[in-house]
Formats: sequence, C-alpha cells, structure tokens
Amino acid sequence: RFEGIPMAPPDPILGVSEAFKADKCDLKLNLGVGAYRTEELQPYVLNVVKKAENLMLNRGENKEYLPIEGWAAFNKATAELLLGADNPAIKEQRVATVQGLSGTGSLRHAAALIERYFPGAKVLISSPTWGNHKNIFNDARVPWSEYRYYDPKTVGLDFEGMLEDIKSAPEGSFVLLHGCAHNPTGIDPTPEQWVKIADLIQQKNHIPFFDVAYQGFASGSLDEDAASVRLFVSRGMEVLVAQSYSKNLGLYAERIGAINVISSSPESAARVKSQLKRIARPMYSNPPVHGARIVADIVGNPDLFNEWKAEMEMMAGRIKNVRQKLYDSISSKDKSGKDWSFILKQIGMFSFTGLNKNQSDNMTNKWHVYMTKDGRISLAGLSLAKCEYLADAIIDSYHN
Ligand code: LMR
Repeated sequence: RFEGIPMAPPDPILGVSEAFKADKCDLKLNLGVGAYRTEELQPYVLNVVKKAENLMLNRGENKEYLPIEGWAAFNKATAELLLGADNPAIKEQRVATVQGLSGTGSLRHAAALIERYFPGAKVLISSPTWGNHKNIFNDARVPWSEYRYYDPKTVGLDFEGMLEDIKSAPEGSFVLLHGCAHNPTGIDPTPEQWVKIADLIQQKNHIPFFDVAYQGFASGSLDEDAASVRLFVSRGMEVLVAQSYSKNLGLYAERIGAINVISSSPESAARVKSQLKRIARPMYSNPPVHGARIVADIVGNPDLFNEWKAEMEMMAGRIKNVRQKLYDSISSKDKSGKDWSFILKQIGMFSFTGLNKNQSDNMTNKWHVYMTKDGRISLAGLSLAKCEYLADAIIDSYHN
C-alpha cells in the first residue's frame, strides 16, 4: 500500500533550491543549481528567445503532435551545431538524431539504448561528476564505475589516473566525457590531452559518450566548445552525444536537447534511430514542440543566430567577471597564504571550491549561502556586488 512508501531524500542539487526558497534571511544567496542570473540576481530570458517566440506567435502555429523523433528542423540544426554543418558524418548520413528532454532526458534515453543493445557494458564516469549521472545509469540499470579525474592536491586534472582507469576498463566500455566545462570541477583536458584520451579510447574500442551541456557557454564560442566531440568524430569513431539547451539558450524549463548517435554507416544510423524512437514512444510518446521551434528558428535565421552568439558571449563574460572579482576579493582578504588561483583556472559556470561537507554546511547555516555539498558553487548565480560577502563566507568556512 502507499503507506509503506518511505520518504525519499532531497535531491542534492534541486533540493538546494527548495531549501533556499524556505530561507527568510535577506543575505541569502543561491549558488546551488547551475542557472544563469543577471547582475541583479534575476532569471534571464534571452532577447533572442523573446524575438523567436514573437515570430512564432505571429505565425500562429498549431499544437499538433510532433513525430516521435521530434521537430525535423530542430534535429537538423542541433546536429549541425554540434558537429559543424559540413561534417562528413552528417553528409554521409551517419548521424541519428532524436529530440530529447534536455540533457537529463537525453542521457537517460541513451542509457536505455545501452541497456538494451550493449548488455553488461559498463559506463565509466569521472570522479567526481554531475550529481545526476549516477542516478541516471542506476535507474536505467546500466553498470558504471568511476575513473580518476580530479586531483585535490593540485586542484587540477589527474590525467595519468584518468588514462590508467580508462585503460584498465573492459574493452568496449562507454566513457562518459563532459564536452566542455566539466561539471562540477570546471577543469577540462587541454587539446593535447584530448588527443591522448581519444587515442586510448580508440585503442581500447571504447565508445565515447559525451554530455554537452554548455556548448558556447564555456568559451563564448559554439565551435570551440564542441572541439572535443569533433575530434573523436573526425577519427571515424562511433560516438554518443547528449545535448542540452538549458544553459546556452536559457531554456531550462522547456526541456529541449537531443541524443545524437554517430554511427559507422547510414544503414546502422537508420536502425539506431528506429530503436531510439521505439524507446521514446512508450515513455513519453513524442517530445514538446516549443523549445524545438525556438532553437530551430534561431539557428535558421542569420540575424537571430548572430544575436544569440552575442548574448551567449555576454553571459559567459559576466561569469568570467565574477570569477575574477571573487578571486580578487578572496586573495586580498585571506591572510593565510593559501593559493586561490584555482578559481581563475577553472572554467564554465561553476567553481569547485574544495570546501568539504562540514564547511559547505557552515556556508549555508551561518552565511545563508546555498551550494551543493561537494563544494561546488555556481558563479552564474553570483553578482559582482556579492563577491566580497561570498569571499568572507568562504574564508570563514575554510579556516573553521
Ligand atoms: C546543475 O548541475 O546544477 C544543473 O545541471 C541543473 C541540474 O539539473 O542539476
């Protein structure tokens, strides 16, 4: 009976937003969920999104069901954004693209494909990783193990450990990689390191599985942020990619993203697509149209596309400014001699502070700064005006 169902624990990331809402203190700051805020700490709807929505309203589109695989113009646009429009894999029709329910839904969809057609295959996940990855593979009943990634001693990448763990995994494993701006650490391999990672994955017959949640949002350039994925695809490897438009277009609530399977032949891509559709139909039938139209309309209109790129650069730039200001504030206030330069070396929306669970609790309980317990703070939720306050909170929490 329902009475027998126990209470589930709060979600480690979205639960933080719930706790933040319940806090009545004026000083409170939500640096938990990775969601972009303006300097006034307000949610931001991109101007280009508003324009695309107005055009859509004027056209008076209907609300008919989409095909199971989603909006065709979106699927074309999203694969081209990811791989580049003239990518041979697209020209040769080796890419199976299906519209997904943003990053999480696309990852879960791909996990279902792995569970069905690669029984027993393991997914290798970075340690640490985004809080939802393990849930996704657990729920899909796909076995996973971790590879070393973050080295707390150097506050950098444990590159040798990463390679060793990828090497010792059973041949044909899936290696989950963050396309850019690794979540939560903000530490990415260098271009030279990516080449070595690709060499090893190819040698081991592993399948790279990219989570691309920040294309254009990390560096400000769509092409630069897709370089890792394109490197693997250029080698003719089979690659799995989950995409999200939550951050780079601010479409968090529209749940718009995609699953892309880069296959070795057009025939196998067609078969994979048919199976992705077969997985979708009994789960949610077909995806929502609104976000897909926004993306397709923006990418398909040169003026809107350019405006999007400018707005993305603006958002990425604001995050870089608060990163710098936070570093300046902490390093001028902290007299302990600690090296805080890791803040500047990390990229993307987050900073991985190295604060442990107790210290993170102090941040929340004493300073009303909400963050995930792994020590991650979302710089996208920080303003220049709050940097000094946050610096005080971090210094106090570190030295306690
Ligand atoms: C995050 O890492 O904060 C975001 O990706 C939001 C989420 O769904 O967890």
